[in-house]
Amino acid sequence: MSNFAAILSSPKAPLEIHPVPNYTPGPTELLIKNTCIALNAIEAKIAIHNVIPYTPYLAILGSTYAGTVSAIGSSVKDFNVGDRVVISKRFDVKGNQYGAFQRYVVCSDIMISRVPSHIDLQIPASLMMNLTCVVGMFSGRLGLERPPLDGREVVKKAKKILAYSGSSSFGGLSVGYLKQAGYTVVTTSSPSNWSFVQGLGATTIIDHTQEQEILVKQLIDHGPYDVVVDFVSIASTLAITGRVVEAQGGGKLFTMQPGREELPAGVERVFEPYSESLYEMRNRELQRWVVDEYLPKGIESGLIKPLPMEKVDGGLKGLNGGLRKMLEGGRRVRYVADPCE
Ligand SMILES: NC(=O)c1ccc[n+]([C@@H]2O[C@H](COP(=O)([O-])OP(=O)(O)OC[C@H]3O[C@@H](n4cnc5c(N)ncnc54)[C@H](OP(=O)(O)O)[C@@H]3O)[C@@H](O)[C@H]2O)c1
Repeated sequence: MSNFAAILSSPKAPLEIHPVPNYTPGPTELLIKNTCIALNAIEAKIAIHNVIPYTPYLAILGSTYAGTVSAIGSSVKDFNVGDRVVISKRFDVKGNQYGAFQRYVVCSDIMISRVPSHIDLQIPASLMMNLTCVVGMFSGRLGLERPPLDGREVVKKAKKILAYSGSSSFGGLSVGYLKQAGYTVVTTSSPSNWSFVQGLGATTIIDHTQEQEILVKQLIDHGPYDVVVDFVSIASTLAITGRVVEAQGGGKLFTMQPGREELPAGVERVFEPYSESLYEMRNRELQRWVVDEYLPKGIESGLIKPLPMEKVDGGLKGLNGGLRKMLEGGRRVRYVADPCE
């Protein structure tokens, strides 16, 4: 089949569908026949708002996808043609052969995970970006323990984490991960997502829709926290989480995006693409655990709860509409598309 891609020709232009080359993978690379693109908020922010100028143009965006291995490089040992796989591209990898918004994509042999035959490819695709960030942030960067996957009893840990917005996708996956590893987790939700967050095992859930002063007081009363993460990180939530960190004497506030909002004195904003630590040599074993163990076994065993998904119709042509829906946000829904449609 010939290759087609959804191309961003200039900042903020709608994606256009064009034929693109059939690629040959390098020695440590694989060529994937892509049958499921999972959209991420960052791609919508780049394509529609140009938040991070993505040069050079013409650009093929997209980071997370699933399909079957179509060809392998000469040094690839662990995969065969025909394997069902899911991939998450490293954030700063550029080169149009690596973008997910096309039918055939080249990937490295690092962040790629085999998908068991009975698991719908959309499930790991819709989870992989956020899951690699969960493990990268809490275990790769902060050194927290990972959950056991063999059913052994979890040892309760002394540390307490504030995960502001356990009802978001990244936040919810984090609450589950931390709870399963034995940590005390305080989180927030609106009443409509309460039962979902409760199902993740949060120790305490606070209603974020209540009056701000009451909310801040309740969050502070449940502290102090060893780690504070704001999974929304817009001005209105930073005004809350910043005060919580300030009340416990200052320190780091982990955020979802870079920004210039003023924070209280002594509060240090932290931001990075949180999967990044998994590419560091010292975290090599952790990275292998994510793709070989946590993702496939966690989904299979029910430890990782699938997120609500919505299919974007129209294949590559439907991506413009899918990206706009992502920016409307607020629904915890993952959007997926089939580029071969
Ligand atoms: N840096 C990184 O490595 C990284 C990785 C992944 C994602 N991100 C970023 O993380 C952010 C969240 O992504 P996501 O996919 O997890 O989002 P999402 O699933 O779309 O989050 C939606 C949920 O967030 C909650 N929410 C929205 N506005 C809120 C507010 N003002 N106060 C409290 N809760 C609010 C809502 O829950 P309720 O119904 O309870 O209100 C809503 O259901 C995005 O900006 C994304 O780009 C960053």
